Amino acid sequence: MKVLAVTSEIYPLVKTGGLADVAGALPIALAREAVRVRTLVPGYPAVLGALEKTRPLHAYEDLQGGPARLLEARAGKLELFVIDAPHLYRREGNPYVDSEGKDWDDNALRFGALAKVGAEIASGLVQGYQPKLVHAHDWQAGLAPAYLRGGPATVITVHNLAFQGLFSSTLADALELPPEIMTLEGVEFHGRIGFLKAGLYFADAITTVSPTYAAEICTPEGGMGLDGLLRARARVLTGICNGIDTNVWSPRKDPHITARFAVEELDLKAANKAALREKLQLAARPDAPLFGVISRLTEQKGIDLIAAVLPDLAKRGVQFAMLGSGDPSLEDKLREAASRHRGSIALFVGYDEALAHMIQAGSDALLVPSRFEPCGLTQLAALRYGTLPIVSRVGGLADTVIDANEAALAAGVATGFQFTPVSEASFRRTLDRALTLWQNKKTWRRLQQNAMRSRVGWGPAAKLYASLFRAVTRRVADRRAGAGTQAAKGASARRAAPRESASTIGQKTSTT
Ligand code: ADP
Ligand code: GLC
Repeated sequence: MKVLAVTSEIYPLVKTGGLADVAGALPIALAREAVRVRTLVPGYPAVLGALEKTRPLHAYEDLQGGPARLLEARAGKLELFVIDAPHLYRREGNPYVDSEGKDWDDNALRFGALAKVGAEIASGLVQGYQPKLVHAHDWQAGLAPAYLRGGPATVITVHNLAFQGLFSSTLADALELPPEIMTLEGVEFHGRIGFLKAGLYFADAITTVSPTYAAEICTPEGGMGLDGLLRARARVLTGICNGIDTNVWSPRKDPHITARFAVEELDLKAANKAALREKLQLAARPDAPLFGVISRLTEQKGIDLIAAVLPDLAKRGVQFAMLGSGDPSLEDKLREAASRHRGSIALFVGYDEALAHMIQAGSDALLVPSRFEPCGLTQLAALRYGTLPIVSRVGGLADTVIDANEAALAAGVATGFQFTPVSEASFRRTLDRALTLWQNKKTWRRLQQNAMRSRVGWGPAAKLYASLFRAVTRRVADRRAGAGTQAAKGASARRAAPRESASTIGQKTSTT
């Protein structure tokens, strides 16, 4: 089965977060399920620089304000379509924001073009290539199902409902969105154009990246204004937990770490801990517990909760290795704690793939106190490196970590620690619980072994995506056949999301 994926990031070419990891790993895992994915990505400099075997397929005289070319290319195992549109994508750095951190003011056109080209490929633009299904990722690809009304089947995956791609409705003409879909039952969201909303409305199926998040986004508390639409579409909404690339995250083969280790060799973690301490100038205290953090520094990730507990824990002898960047005020809070507790708290502000691996390998526990977390990938890597995740019980964190409660300890299945509600008090209680358990070396070791044996690869998820893609393709084909018969009676040939009623859609307060 041929699938066209549409995404704005893909590891290892361009990455700001987990979306890139998923877009890069899922095609390779799906190949084992006889699903052949080709991925359409924007031609940022980092993408163009990494391409092999490039072949031009189509020339645009004017794609949103300038000439462009559609290329076919490979990058390692990835099969790609790339839009080389210098006026839209040839900008260094982060794909979404300028060097001052401000959104590019033509993002609607940049990602509208991505979705439009995706829809055109799916409609036969490239001779000899006809996908059965289009898989759109997040708001950046959200308009693809809207453009494609009537074409191949479409699935949209929500990686984070907080990013919705909301733009002024005055852009409707430039985006070639016809008036009949610029309505509540379509692209419009509270008077604006909602890229993600459009995808959620028009796609034949919706997935998100964990079962718990799938349930959370159907509630007013977790739905960020889109819960009405999501409840109306609940029958086509599925949660599938992400995996991680177990070749990239492998304690046995990791080129970035000092001592490679297997589950029977957990003692070797001490050498990685020593190397991490040295790298980050933490005091040489082999017996002190060391907690890691690898995160975007944002409100979502509960970084303020970490900032709140740092001083106390540092005084109690805990060391911290933190890596991340994001909100300047959160960066400042962590920086201040690090400068007050030199030797105990280390912070590296920035993006550093090798250091992320060193932290996973050298820490005793990894802190992920997110307020919401669609899936989360760092806790999965932590499990694999015998670094016990201490996580809030939300979204994918709830689905992937087994809390060391009495029952799980008795059954010998615990892999980490969960806390709820997401508050400083309950975070502190759980950190205390972890520190108490840390004293009991035998039990801690047992948890590490359980963690390392957890299934965190892409295998199970790829099977679920493959069967979902096949089922959606069949359902859409059947519906088309049915609609064809009904057309004679004057029914419309196709409404992409025919089951919702207008009254349930997009009625909640807007959140960007
Ligand atoms: P999100 O996508 O919400 O940021 P995820 O946990 O899904 O969160 O994915 C984050 C990914 O980015 C992981 O692969 C993690 O290792 C990586 N990462 C996050 N921050 C950094 C950083 N500062 N340096 C290197 N890798 C990072
Ligand atoms: C988003 C989410 C994160 C998820 C990632 C990949 O960035 O915040 O929880 O793991 O996408 O799906």
